[in-house]
Amino acid sequence: MEIIERASIGLKVENFSKSYDSVKVLNDISIEVEPGEIFVIMGPSGSGKSVLLKHVAGLEIPNNGRILIDGKDISDPKTRTQVHMALIFQAGALFNSMSVFDNLALYPREHRLYNKKTLRGKVMKALETLSLEDAAEKFPSQLSGGMRKRVAIARALVMEPELILYDEPTSELDPTMGATISEIIADLRAEFGVTSLVVSHDRDLALTIADRVAILMDGDLLEVDTPENINKTENPRVKDFLNPVIDIKNPRFKKKEYSR
Ligand SMILES: Nc1ncnc2c1ncn2[C@@H]1O[C@H](COP(=O)(O)OP(=O)(O)OP(=O)(O)O)[C@@H](O)[C@H]1O
Ligand SMILES: [Mg+2]
Repeated sequence: MEIIERASIGLKVENFSKSYDSVKVLNDISIEVEPGEIFVIMGPSGSGKSVLLKHVAGLEIPNNGRILIDGKDISDPKTRTQVHMALIFQAGALFNSMSVFDNLALYPREHRLYNKKTLRGKVMKALETLSLEDAAEKFPSQLSGGMRKRVAIARALVMEPELILYDEPTSELDPTMGATISEIIADLRAEFGVTSLVVSHDRDLALTIADRVAILMDGDLLEVDTPENINKTENPRVKDFLNPVIDIKNPRFKKKEYSR
């Protein structure tokens, strides 16, 4: 496998804040991700995880602070193009009217990056890496949710990224498929040295593949530590988030009688 021949790159988020109108979404966030690290950001729905990833990808500009990838400020359109980075969107963002092959080939074709034969080789290699070679001529609507997630990852691989940003890569998948995706993220790091920034609610993913985990709540970064230490946290908010206890005697969960 020689999809990625480049060295890994690191990432630095420095005192980053973001508000939309007057609503503060992220508050003075600082993170440093080492080259080749798998760094997982966990947090409840609405805590600002996707907003953070969009800024790291350079799709939006911070109100305050800086985001540096491989030492380059990602807010600057000139340096952004020099960074080999891929964002895998929460919903996959595949084009339903195109085959899997054409989804993977779209960007390199539009930018005339490779000749036809090289492009075919790179697309098929990326599909093989994710065991999707038989799906090349299928359309996204013919695939399961897990396969669509894998296609989205394969599409990123065609561009040979040094850094992959994953937004909820295991959401909407059953636990087995979730574990497969976690394994793929770990394999891509092991085989190609890809630096991975993963946003997820998935406790199993974080505890099994992360080198470090950050907990984001209401726009604040509460903890950054190894999965082992995060799992032993004394912070009651983090504890509750990681191990929610459902009180089955709570009247909210009582069986209701519905009239027909
Ligand atoms: N473009 C925008 N304009 C205004 N508000 C926004 C915008 N994008 C996000 N927000 C707000 O920022 C907050 C954080 O959103 P975000 O999508 O980052 O949450 P999240 O942590 O990814 O949640 P989930 O786990 O459900 O995906 C939400 O309150 C959202 O409404
Ligand atoms: Mg999100």
